[in-house]
Amino acid sequence: DLTSRWPGRIVLTGFRGTGKTTVGRLLARMLGYAFLDTDQVLEERLGSTIAAFVQANGWEAFRRAERELLEELARVRRVVVATGGGAILHRDAWERLRQGGFVVWLQADGATIGRRLAADPVSAVQRPPLSSEDPEREIEEQLALRTPLYAAGSDLAVDSARLTPEAIVTLIHEQL
Ligand code: S3P
Repeated sequence: DLTSRWPGRIVLTGFRGTGKTTVGRLLARMLGYAFLDTDQVLEERLGSTIAAFVQANGWEAFRRAERELLEELARVRRVVVATGGGAILHRDAWERLRQGGFVVWLQADGATIGRRLAADPVSAVQRPPLSSEDPEREIEEQLALRTPLYAAGSDLAVDSARLTPEAIVTLIHEQL
């Protein structure tokens, strides 16, 4: 089986707007793996958008559901998982998800992220504010907090600000 040398689970991490879903779909198709987006699964489970759920129940309740999902996915193989930008915060569950898999960090600078989020019409609906009502400040604050976590919690970093999704997929494929 040609695919057996590949890790059973490929996990994409990185900030909002770094292309995890787009890259994940393409990569899954290339490998013949299933594709899963944790935000999509959570919206189905919670029966609402993430923004509405967070507004009604708070971030802690969302993170609890997210952590449970990561624990379940740590037992799934032949899958590409695009995770929400905050999934890296679940240190223990993250390490279990990472074990037996390969984690790719899609990197981008704050200005690129800000531009992409501002250009995305569904962004405001899908992405409730994390810490600040000022988008630029929020991106810088959250990037400062999370960059060390993404760095420590990944096996490969890819510059998603300068590469197309196709180029990123090729690069990841070469590293597997
Ligand atoms: C979050 C990112 C979102 C989503 C939720 C929280 C975060 O996912 O999980 O709004 O904490 O960065 P994306 O990175 O897919 O936008």
